[in-house]
Amino acid sequence: MVEDIKATRNRAAEIGATGVGKTFGAFTALSDISLTVGRGEFLTLLGPSGSGKTTFLMILSGFEAPTSGRLTLDGRDMTATPAEERAFGMVFQGYALFPHMTVEENIAFPLKVQKRPAAEIRRRVSGIIEMVGLGGHGHKRPAGLSGGQQQRVALARALIYQPPVLLLDEPFSALDKNLRGQMQDEMRRLHQETGTTFVFVTHDQSEALALSTRIAIFEKGRLQQIAAPREVYERPASRFVAEFLGDINILPLADLSSDAQGAGGRFEGQVLRAPAAGHLAGANSLAIRPEYIRLHLSRPDTGNAVAARIDHLTYLGAETRLALCTPGGAGLTLILPTAELPSGIGPGTPVWAVWPETRGFLL
Ligand SMILES: Nc1ncnc2c1ncn2[C@@H]1O[C@H](COP(=O)(O)OP(=O)(O)OP(=O)(O)O)[C@@H](O)[C@H]1O
Ligand SMILES: [Mg+2]
Repeated sequence: MVEDIKATRNRAAEIGATGVGKTFGAFTALSDISLTVGRGEFLTLLGPSGSGKTTFLMILSGFEAPTSGRLTLDGRDMTATPAEERAFGMVFQGYALFPHMTVEENIAFPLKVQKRPAAEIRRRVSGIIEMVGLGGHGHKRPAGLSGGQQQRVALARALIYQPPVLLLDEPFSALDKNLRGQMQDEMRRLHQETGTTFVFVTHDQSEALALSTRIAIFEKGRLQQIAAPREVYERPASRFVAEFLGDINILPLADLSSDAQGAGGRFEGQVLRAPAAGHLAGANSLAIRPEYIRLHLSRPDTGNAVAARIDHLTYLGAETRLALCTPGGAGLTLILPTAELPSGIGPGTPVWAVWPETRGFLL
């Protein structure tokens, strides 16, 4: 089994896309996508429905041909290489298991097609069954398995022939929230153990942030940003990316200017500041995530501070979400640990929304 894992790791490939486009008739599904997926990377394609994620994955797999651009595998052109020669592992939302075969037979199938010796097939199937946590289920048929177990069979079948790249299109979308969380942990472990290059599609932001080495954000067939989770979340390249990755407050700034310490502008008569970090050209707003804002009952000496009134509170268990309204009518959202809520506050309480200058960014 250790040998099998090593072989998979050694096979992990780098893939590249340069200027990839795809049109269906007059409709442009993808425009000018250029990116590299490093060996052993876990790249997630994230974007709203219809943004082109599946189309791009199908182009990587070889089941769809790009209308323009080129693809490489470890630096060699693979634009015209047929899907069966690329031999990437694939896992889809509908697991597509063979219903009349047992778990073991389903998983062994790719190796049987490759006509591997029976002893090798037995060894590799039992190894991978343990690896995906299906020990004891090998003789069952898919109909006798839960959704999560079926998904594990699909994963095992895709990993068994040690593909250079594993492509996954929303593999957990049919699972309930708890099971989804478990499968995410499983996926992280499988990625670490196999060392294979993963390209994973989701439209779940938290799943993307939790699993990926980098995230590629698609909007309307265009690549908006590709970067590590923390960077896309904390330094989004556009308003679309900032808003797509979770709640965010965006405050319009007047008379924006920068100096050696950063940048600043006026919001409802108060000066708000943020790091200037390359984002100033064309910027007109300050963005701040709700979890970085704290609530004060009087104005503190340092940090950005905006006067507001509480509009309403929503109790979420460990956290409480607060909606504030400024005198100018702007809305602000805060997420505070429930344990840190000052006592005696409620709708109408005048407060200060306060955050460190370094936590905001210009958009
Ligand atoms: N074979 C096709 N013929 C015509 N249009 C297509 C075809 N395949 C995809 N499209 C269109 O291309 C766009 C991108 O589709 P795609 O399936 O890649 O989106 P997606 O990001 O995977 O969305 P979802 O999150 O809903 O799965 C959509 O507008 C879709 O209707
Ligand atoms: Mg899709």
